[in-house]
Amino acid sequence: MKSFYLTTPIYYVNDAPHIGHAYTTVAGDVLTRWHRQRGESVWFLTGTDEHGQKVMRTAEANGVAPQAWADKLVEEAWKPNWEALNIANDDFIRTTEPRHMDRVQTFLTSLKDAGFIYQGDFEGPYCVGCEEFKLPGDLLEGNLCPIHSKPVENVKETNWFFKLSEFAQPLLAHYKNDPEACQPESARNEVVAFLESGLRDLSISRSTFDWGIPVPWDTDQVVYVWFDALLNYATAVGLTDDPSSEGGKKFAETWPADVHLVGKDILRFHAVIWPAMLMAAGVAIPKKVFAHGWLLVGGEKMSKSKLTGIAPADITDHFGVDAFRYYFLRAIPFGSDGSFSWEDMSARYTSELANDFGNLASRLAAMVEKYCGGVLPAVAQDKELSTSLQETVAKADAAMVALDFQGGINAIMDFCKQVNGFVTIKEPWILAKDPANQQVLEDVLYNTAESLRALAILLHPVMPGTTEILWESLGAKTVLGELASQKISEVATWGQLPKGATVTKTPVLFPRLEVKE
Ligand code: MSP
Repeated sequence: MKSFYLTTPIYYVNDAPHIGHAYTTVAGDVLTRWHRQRGESVWFLTGTDEHGQKVMRTAEANGVAPQAWADKLVEEAWKPNWEALNIANDDFIRTTEPRHMDRVQTFLTSLKDAGFIYQGDFEGPYCVGCEEFKLPGDLLEGNLCPIHSKPVENVKETNWFFKLSEFAQPLLAHYKNDPEACQPESARNEVVAFLESGLRDLSISRSTFDWGIPVPWDTDQVVYVWFDALLNYATAVGLTDDPSSEGGKKFAETWPADVHLVGKDILRFHAVIWPAMLMAAGVAIPKKVFAHGWLLVGGEKMSKSKLTGIAPADITDHFGVDAFRYYFLRAIPFGSDGSFSWEDMSARYTSELANDFGNLASRLAAMVEKYCGGVLPAVAQDKELSTSLQETVAKADAAMVALDFQGGINAIMDFCKQVNGFVTIKEPWILAKDPANQQVLEDVLYNTAESLRALAILLHPVMPGTTEILWESLGAKTVLGELASQKISEVATWGQLPKGATVTKTPVLFPRLEVKE
């Protein structure tokens, strides 16, 4: 069975992660967890981009060899960061691993053999920050990279070229026939306009430094870092391996990738160069490239080079990991830019997570303990809540699968609000004053518990840690099994928590924020 295969960009190891990087990876993690809960087989890849001048120069500036620098950053910064954010990737690829380097060389040789690689002279501006050849018309004030606001360098070399220009028409046809292949709409329009203006062949090797994969037939040259990096998505799952080998079987199970998640700054590499490379090799092209927007600081893309990068820990230390995972996907439509604001995050934390969600969970546990000795007293079905849950699941699923995280989360949180309204109107604390209302009271508590069961499952991909605590509190694990194995398609089946389930008080899901000095 073909797996749902999702990738993040592989990150440069010139520096430690900031929240812009975390934004992409968290989105990938939420989407893959959602697909797993849909019962699909899933493969989720992330990793690091370790070759090229940018990493080499950073290592030099720090007085260490590039490999030692990359090893240190991967082990001390990148991997621990993903662990801390509860990212459940299935694999982590590093472009300095032999499994990648060998397959890149095999792939490149096959392109040369097929007649798509030739030698030529290159001269033009290059931005080391972007690791990209620029067109003179792209530059600001004649020589500044528009993304990094730093001077470009002039490169003049004899290089190997890839016949990219041959692929403008096939790619145009592809994006016109399949609007899903590049999303959102604005990204697709940008790519189509770019392709319509024609493509130039691409220099895919460099000779003036050696931190890269040697070109197999000309070892004085190293493979251009983007050509090397883009291939990670396919080398990680066995590209070029014999179909009967383990790698070949993995490739058949995963390829083509279902979604490449990227920031809009690297859209063209993914929607133009990458599929052209695959077309030239006769390999299937990815089903979708989705370009999300930027997290902005002061109206500009947050970045370490501009000293505006915020480390994820600066936020998670205050708000917790789950609020971090929730906030950016909830607050910013995926595909648009968004500004990070401490005040907005505090406000949403308090109203949506602490009040709407966390309080509902603790109120239920407290009431079941007080009025029913900590045991779910009865099974009941409130028509309005159960119908609304069905609609919520359908809406959330459609939105999540379409990478509309904001729409998906909103649908779930609207249901959460409705359950709060239900409790407020029913006033169980008043019902409890008169024994004649015992049955009604028990029904209210059961309907609230069932709603919380559904919320735990639906929010699990977004907030895996907190929802586990809620799952514990509902006594659901012993009767329904692991939270991660609950299926989205079965969430709306009402009445799954049995009568007699033990509900316990747990630590508050979203504690009151400490006042920041
Ligand atoms: N190494 C390349 C990608 C190669 S993929 C074959 C690269 N790395 S990067 O570390 O500079 O950035 C990777 C990704 O991080 C960006 O595409 C984007 O997804 C994300 N972001 C970096 N800064 C960002 C923001 N300020 N906001 C949102 N995402 C940003 O490019």
